[in-house]
Amino acid sequence: MEIKIRKASPLDVKTACLVIGVYEKGLSEPLLKELDQKLGGLLRQAQRNEEFTGKNSEHILFQPAGHLPAERVLLIGLGPKAESTLEKIRQAAGIAMQQVAGKKLGQVAFALPLGAEEKDDSAAHIQATAEGILLAAYRFDQFLGEKAKASRKLPKAVTVVIGKAHDKQACESALEKAQKLSRAVVVARDLVNAPGNIKSPAYLVEQAQVAAAESTLKCKVLNKKKLSEEGFGALLGVAQGSIREPYLIVLDHQGGNKGEQPVVLVGKGVTFDSGGISLKPGEKMDEMKMDMAGGAAVIGTMLAAALLELPINLVGIVPTVENMPSGTAYRPGDILTSLSGQTIEVLNTDAEGRLILADALTYAKRYEPKLVIDLATLTGACIIALGHQATAVLGNDQKLVQSLLDAGEASGERLWQLPLWDDYDQQIKSDVADVKNTGGRPAGTITAAAFLKKFAGDFRWAHLDIAGTAWSDQSQSYTSKGGTGVGVRLLVTFLQNLDTTT
Ligand code: BES
Ligand code: MN
Ligand code: ZN
Repeated sequence: MEIKIRKASPLDVKTACLVIGVYEKGLSEPLLKELDQKLGGLLRQAQRNEEFTGKNSEHILFQPAGHLPAERVLLIGLGPKAESTLEKIRQAAGIAMQQVAGKKLGQVAFALPLGAEEKDDSAAHIQATAEGILLAAYRFDQFLGEKAKASRKLPKAVTVVIGKAHDKQACESALEKAQKLSRAVVVARDLVNAPGNIKSPAYLVEQAQVAAAESTLKCKVLNKKKLSEEGFGALLGVAQGSIREPYLIVLDHQGGNKGEQPVVLVGKGVTFDSGGISLKPGEKMDEMKMDMAGGAAVIGTMLAAALLELPINLVGIVPTVENMPSGTAYRPGDILTSLSGQTIEVLNTDAEGRLILADALTYAKRYEPKLVIDLATLTGACIIALGHQATAVLGNDQKLVQSLLDAGEASGERLWQLPLWDDYDQQIKSDVADVKNTGGRPAGTITAAAFLKKFAGDFRWAHLDIAGTAWSDQSQSYTSKGGTGVGVRLLVTFLQNLDTTT
């Protein structure tokens, strides 16, 4: 799908479908008045019937039958103008895209939002529009037959219409940014959606290498032999039940000055989580192919950082294993010696994510990080606490947590903070080892983070539990069912504001 910018008056554009964003109670804008006239008053009528008033995500389709160069006009509500956010624009663009995607149209034009007269944030508006369009166009169709694929309808080309006052070059560069960012989100979504038979730890390694090959990233891989020489005892404990060998992937983006301390991202890369000997129930176990979504977010963010040439040093670490029950699997009661030297009593082999992250966080220290952020589909308890609407954030540095919360609001990938008081450490005390890997049912998301805190000893660190946000059962405005690619846009937004916020 080709996408380009064009300076024009929306009502003059010849297109299969003209999409116009409308603020609530904004139907008196000159352009909409003119449109209403050309439609013979249908717009006012729709408003009177309360069929369309510009409320958030409301939409209505008109066929102007020759009164306009456009064959169709799709109006999409943006909500009250005073409450306008980039996320609302992204959502409106996504909803509009879903509407036109069902129709096999040639070329569609987006004039969104209509308040396109204000110059100041036009580039940001264009970027949000393009993100909504590109992300809504995503489908996971690699495994569909040719016929099923062909029945997938997408417009051939999209034109984003900008007003006279706009700086075309700035809008084009905003479009380019949206394309790079969306590409990185799509990479993450594809990784999450890939089935477990294909997606082994070795497959994640290959895909990280592909991302490096298509960009300026450097990729280093530690194999099983190297991991045991180094003493990744916690990671290797989890991996030993699977015939598929574990790896530690390290991606490197050198965008800052030489010697400048890097930001380190760590992502959980469990390619399938059966629970191991503490086997999960069968229902929805298929979804546990998404248990590497943290790793996917890290690979996606690294790719975005390289494509967008972010002026920082950034390291992405993905420990990757498969958690399986077998005669060689680790057992409840086992005591593992982690890379940090701390011993861990395994009370439940299904609490495997924190084990591989423990060693990855210890390894992160070698990069003398400015700060470390880990992402993981870590606890079912997180879904109980926050549902699918928010990622949980916890950390040992409130300024870092706050800037992540801010990036969450700006990107639309929202976060909610949970406390990480020392009081919770009680729950993960072991009688026979330095720490145990489960803290019981109360505060499951917090005790998992309290466990990680023991391995993030002396650097600024935040943990994101994406168990509820990495996978979606329903399609939403610009997210289809399945892997959401959560984390990529959040982290890119965070990294872009790094100077001013941390
Ligand atoms: N990968 C799961 C967490 C998860 C559950 C993510 C549902 C997404 C959806 C994790 O490895 C896990 O199994 N956690 C256990 C921990 C418990 C045994 C302490 C859980 O949440 O039940
Ligand atoms: Mn598990
Ligand atoms: Zn898991």
